[in-house]
Amino acid sequence: TWTTSNVVEESVAAIREQVGTKRAICGLSGGVDSAVAAALVQKAIGDQLTCVYVDHGLMRKGESEQVEKDFVAATGVQLKVVEAEERFLSALAEVSDPEEKRKIIGREFIRVFEQAQAELVAEAGAAGEDVEFLVQGTLYPDVVESGGGTGTANIKSHHNVGGLPDDIEFQLVEPLRRLFKDEVRMVGQELGLPDEIVHRQPFPGPGLGIRIVGEVNKERLDLLREADAIAREELTAAGLDRDIWQCPVVLLADVRSVGVQGDGRTYGHPIVLRPVSSEDAMTADWSRLPYDVLSRISTRITNEVDQINRVVLDITSKPPGTIEWE
Ligand code: XMP
Repeated sequence: TWTTSNVVEESVAAIREQVGTKRAICGLSGGVDSAVAAALVQKAIGDQLTCVYVDHGLMRKGESEQVEKDFVAATGVQLKVVEAEERFLSALAEVSDPEEKRKIIGREFIRVFEQAQAELVAEAGAAGEDVEFLVQGTLYPDVVESGGGTGTANIKSHHNVGGLPDDIEFQLVEPLRRLFKDEVRMVGQELGLPDEIVHRQPFPGPGLGIRIVGEVNKERLDLLREADAIAREELTAAGLDRDIWQCPVVLLADVRSVGVQGDGRTYGHPIVLRPVSSEDAMTADWSRLPYDVLSRISTRITNEVDQINRVVLDITSKPPGTIEWE
């Protein structure tokens, strides 16, 4: 029978069997999936695991600090932080095709992990040569939607499944591969992770890189980070975090429209709010957020974020629209 303690017990046994006495590294994205995967693997193999947090510059405001502080405090994992903003942004320069972006981000992730692995080997001396495994928080829906499941069409290359390069040097450990998100949260709870981690809304591995429609650069990322932070602040203040599944905030970087602010004409970019309700992200409906909350978000974003003069609401369900715009 399916109980979270059975799932934990079986996964721990399977991970021990797979990894043996070797070492593993796990990428933390700040999301619940990678956090639970890491906690599970840590329970199984303890300090044979090192977590790696890649700061790729595509994170939301405050995200890096949260991973560095909260997750380490909750689990006591060994954490290595890699600053890789320049590397990712130069690899993404002038790329606007969504699949191309996903592939580039997936590839750069692996290259950074390989580098982190090499550094761990150097630091640990001979014992370090055994860093053979890469832990990923891949969920069942990720497997299905990347075309790796039951023959379903390939919708998107989720960067921890379809987006990996072919010449990957690691063996993958994917303890959540059969679970849905709500099950992952239960496993996280069972493992004693704090609510702020267990109930975090999903955030995609490729980060804000797939929430800018158009080319990705630092200036655009900074705009989007500000707008996203405002939306999250207002949703939290209104007590809506647990009512919605997630609310991507998207910058339409190649679209401009005319506006008026103060006495002057503006010619700025729109921000899209994409609040959705869902059980497992395979299907979703747009969330009926209270008008006054939407209104506050809109007013604040247009007042506080330079170059944004319009806020629009995405009222498409999934299908036909996916949750993320890319
Ligand atoms: P879509 O856009 O396919 O998103 O409807 C479904 C869910 O998956 C998240 N998502 C990702 N998560 N790596 C991830 O870890 C990815 O590459 C990725 N792409 C989308 C998305 O935020 C939503 O919760």
